[in-house]
Amino acid sequence: MKKILFIASECVPFIKTGGLADVIGSLPKYFNKEKYEVRVIIPNYHCIPQKWKDQMQYVTNFYMDMAWRSQYVGVMEMDYEGIHYYFIDNEYYFAGEKPYGYIHEDIEKFAFFSRAALSILPVVDYQPDIVHCHDWQTGLVPVYLKDSFHDSEFYANMKSVMTIHNLKFQGVWNIRTVQDATGLDMSYFTSDKLEAYGDANYLKGGIVYADLVTTVSNTYAQEIQTPFYGEHLDGLMRARSAELYGIVNGLDYTEWNPETDMRIAANYTAENFRKQKFKNKLALQKELGLPQDKKTLLLGIVSRLTDQKGFDLIDCVMDELCQENIQIVVLGTGEEKYENMFRHFAWKYDDKVAACIYYSDELSHKIYAGCDAFLMPSLFEPCGLSQLMSLHYGTLPIVRETGGLKDTVEPYNEFEGTGTGFSFTNYNAHEMLGTVRYALSVYYDKKRNWNKIVDRAMAADFSWGNSSKQYEELYEKLG
Ligand code: ADP
Ligand code: GLC
Repeated sequence: MKKILFIASECVPFIKTGGLADVIGSLPKYFNKEKYEVRVIIPNYHCIPQKWKDQMQYVTNFYMDMAWRSQYVGVMEMDYEGIHYYFIDNEYYFAGEKPYGYIHEDIEKFAFFSRAALSILPVVDYQPDIVHCHDWQTGLVPVYLKDSFHDSEFYANMKSVMTIHNLKFQGVWNIRTVQDATGLDMSYFTSDKLEAYGDANYLKGGIVYADLVTTVSNTYAQEIQTPFYGEHLDGLMRARSAELYGIVNGLDYTEWNPETDMRIAANYTAENFRKQKFKNKLALQKELGLPQDKKTLLLGIVSRLTDQKGFDLIDCVMDELCQENIQIVVLGTGEEKYENMFRHFAWKYDDKVAACIYYSDELSHKIYAGCDAFLMPSLFEPCGLSQLMSLHYGTLPIVRETGGLKDTVEPYNEFEGTGTGFSFTNYNAHEMLGTVRYALSVYYDKKRNWNKIVDRAMAADFSWGNSSKQYEELYEKLG
């Protein structure tokens, strides 16, 4: 039995800000249970809902040396849906309304978390063969493993995998502060190790020191080796290309399933969506205060409102788009300029646009189920889960061909009768608009063809089955 330990900063159902939480909360369930035992460590944030805190069991606490400080480490645990979770407790670091705050605080917070995650292992008597780290928040784990922990027999043979969910966020701060926060020797802060462009870089540390590096789609694994997508680390990605693997994310189909989803107005399947799906549209239109009309194409967006997701393209052509026979619903939070942009268009086109500027799992399900199409024109997209949710709910994705969007949405080909959605190549607002108009024309003029695309979209398999096997193969490579 191989023991695998996931270390991450968020995990469904306990705490989520984006797709990372979906992955950490679902992938561990899909490994072959005869061969792998997977446990997960996340912080015990103050903002984890009380409902979950009530189910945690206290394990122990101790003080951990961290540079010149001695820090309290509390350990809580819980079994949930067959997976064993540990929660690291420290009221100073994990207070706050959200998991992440100011970067200078997060830098110290996640140095603590990374070191604590390794430190609790002998205490809870769990000795993983492989430590699987996710994103910059855990980038120091492979570094610590090769540093002070290496001298202890308990850790000496542990291997590490670093998965990049988003290369944009690297955990960068000045060397002096990071050295002080981490306790790492100054010799670590050179350009072949943690230093990049004069600063200390956590993710770079993880990429340099991990035994294997993965990212969440094949195309993104290629893209990040180029300057445009490489976020200034493309040279490093090329240098590590022999150990860099792209494995596309899967979706937890027990959680995201239109047949059983309790949050939607009417359940439906690949067989009966023609007669059932529109009921979700009518319910959604009513809830959002849009005119109820089952014929009008309803276009959905559920997203963090950041530059990554292509909102400047939407801003540019929104007026033109609203001249079409279309309704648009946006659910998202993030940068103020985009929040205000959607509020503005919802005011200007109040019978066509609904802007829900907040976070709601429940409404997201209703949007995936109730819309006809889903727009995701990302500038870059390591994988993307929203388009996978849309596909499974028969809501056709309209995407830019980048990263995981390119790998998971097959563009409609009207001549061959293939494809599961619509896509465009260049980061250009009118190219996007042209693609949305094309989708509208298929929807209004060739409904039978549209429904066949829905058939194919709902049949596409992005469950974890395949991808979890690819991770298992990598674990085997590590011996
Ligand atoms: P990213 O991780 O870059 O944000 P993904 O597509 O991988 O993008 O995952 C985003 C996840 O967050 C999806 O599950 C999506 O439904 C969810 N999400 C984003 N914004 C909201 C919101 N405002 N309310 C509810 N869910 C949201
Ligand atoms: C990141 C990426 C997103 C990916 C998610 C989970 O947040 O932006 O594309 O799906 O991680 O891997």
